[in-house]
Amino acid sequence: MIHNPPPDQDETNESADAKDSEATGTLRHRRIRSFVTRAGRVSTGQRRALDEFGPRFVVPYAPQSLDWDAAFGRKAPRVLEIGFGMGGTTAEIASARPADDFLGIEVHEPGVGALLKLIGEQELTNIRVVQHDAVEVLEHMIAADSLDGVHIYFPDPWHKARHHKRRLIQPKFVALLVSRLKPDGYLHLATDWQNYAEQMLEVLSAEPALENTAGSDYAERPDYRPVTKFERRGLKLGHGVWDLVFKRC
Ligand SMILES: C[S@@+](CC[C@H](N)C(=O)[O-])C[C@H]1O[C@@H](n2cnc3c(N)ncnc32)[C@H](O)[C@@H]1O
Repeated sequence: MIHNPPPDQDETNESADAKDSEATGTLRHRRIRSFVTRAGRVSTGQRRALDEFGPRFVVPYAPQSLDWDAAFGRKAPRVLEIGFGMGGTTAEIASARPADDFLGIEVHEPGVGALLKLIGEQELTNIRVVQHDAVEVLEHMIAADSLDGVHIYFPDPWHKARHHKRRLIQPKFVALLVSRLKPDGYLHLATDWQNYAEQMLEVLSAEPALENTAGSDYAERPDYRPVTKFERRGLKLGHGVWDLVFKRC
């Protein structure tokens, strides 16, 4: 699992953003992002996968609606995953659900390389990848009422209260997600940070277009979501993991 960068780096990033705006003379308000841009070392294997499989499986970000059928070469249920990290879970789910198509979004290049490596090794054909901010991808590339499911597993918890504004699961973002789901489409979240789980449950329960599949509680982990190594270690130490599965009404 990829951990949050130190807050100093976060603040440096914010002031760099502000300077950018000043330099270009724009008054545009910079969005508070759920990630910070890190260089991150791309391994030789990941670089090779980026070169070899990128052209076929990476969909370049463009501010226009994505034609899924053309991108995947077929018509199938559409599942979006946000922040797939190193892609282990993505590959495992896609392999177990060959009838579904998965679009993974991740900003971190080594993660994109790692998932492409898995795609190559396992000869998976039902994954495509966008390396870009998921908020902009949702706003510009994903049509309204078009997704059968959305997966967001272990999003950065931004532990400190003063960084909670960077958490992905906020009312506005959830409303955007819901607008992209088909009626009956599902939203599946998981976290190992209790305070974030509570926020997720509160935000999702307050969204009128969503219905909790588990009454008013957390859900059992659905079988298709594998337990990661990191998660297994945490569970052994007595740490909790919370899944939430909601449906668009
Ligand atoms: C803590 S990691 C979890 C990775 C993975 N889902 C897992 O379970 O191991 C969160 C990931 O989300 C990515 N991320 C955060 N905000 C994002 C955004 N707005 N768009 C795309 N990726 C994002 C980060 O780069 C990071 O890799």
